[in-house]
Amino acid sequence: MTAPLLRDRTALITGAGRGIGLAVAQAMAEHGARVILADLAPDAAATGIAGARAVALDVTDEAATEAAFDRLAAEGWLPDIVVPNAGILHLEGVETLPADRFRAVVDVNLTGAFLTARAAARRMVADGRIIFTASLFGLRGGAQNAAYSASKFGMVGLMESMAADLAPRGILVNCVAPGQIETDMMTKLVQDRLAMGLPDPRERLRARIPLGRLGSAAELAGTYVWLASPLATYVTGQTITVDGGWQVG
Ligand SMILES: NC(=O)c1ccc[n+]([C@@H]2O[C@H](COP(=O)([O-])OP(=O)(O)OC[C@H]3O[C@@H](n4cnc5c(N)ncnc54)[C@H](O)[C@@H]3O)[C@@H](O)[C@H]2O)c1
Repeated sequence: MTAPLLRDRTALITGAGRGIGLAVAQAMAEHGARVILADLAPDAAATGIAGARAVALDVTDEAATEAAFDRLAAEGWLPDIVVPNAGILHLEGVETLPADRFRAVVDVNLTGAFLTARAAARRMVADGRIIFTASLFGLRGGAQNAAYSASKFGMVGLMESMAADLAPRGILVNCVAPGQIETDMMTKLVQDRLAMGLPDPRERLRARIPLGRLGSAAELAGTYVWLASPLATYVTGQTITVDGGWQVG
């Protein structure tokens, strides 16, 4: 029997209370990692992941982020795989988009990801992995998506720069860019569109996606496991899209 891919590895995932972050935590645990679920108010027991640890963390809080990493290191839980994944969405046309909503989205999605990744990079030793959750909207903008798209484009630039900075230390940095995934964020997107008098986009999305359906969080998780594993020792500075073929549709 072969050893689990992530044996002896410790993974911290932000936004791990539900959705994509939780699915990544579950998959990494299934492949042998110890996992740390970081979220605003996480409940490790509720996830059913054996041995998981929960850390209450607002990723926009610099001091709390540094303190959380110090505490984990002191307790023998310094992560060598870190997934800055916490994110929020605000849909609005650019003419009415208030600056404070723009700042709030950038603060969580980009500055928060930076603070998590920087705290990790400061403490990681060789063979560390940082895997951001970007988006197709980090590669191409779209209507009502100015704040979200700006934050995710920023994340791709952050990832590429960090990959270059950290390569000499043997730390690999990449993004996963999910397509249309069925999570609470998708539910909110549908509700926000309906509130704007716009139609539910899911039928249109299904028709537009070559595989003919939205993805599940569990289907994304394997890409994070691969990027964190010994199967991906020469991959850094990349954005890997997982989108059911969206870009070739
Ligand atoms: N669902 C999709 O279709 C999709 C597509 C592309 C990218 N993404 C990205 O995937 C990531 C996860 O999204 P999801 O669909 O699972 O969304 P979700 O809304 O289901 O989960 C997001 C999680 O982030 C947490 N969070 C929010 N603000 C936080 C903060 N300040 N500090 C700590 N945690 C915070 C929430 O509590 C929640 O648990 C996000 O970065 C999102 O932009 C999602």
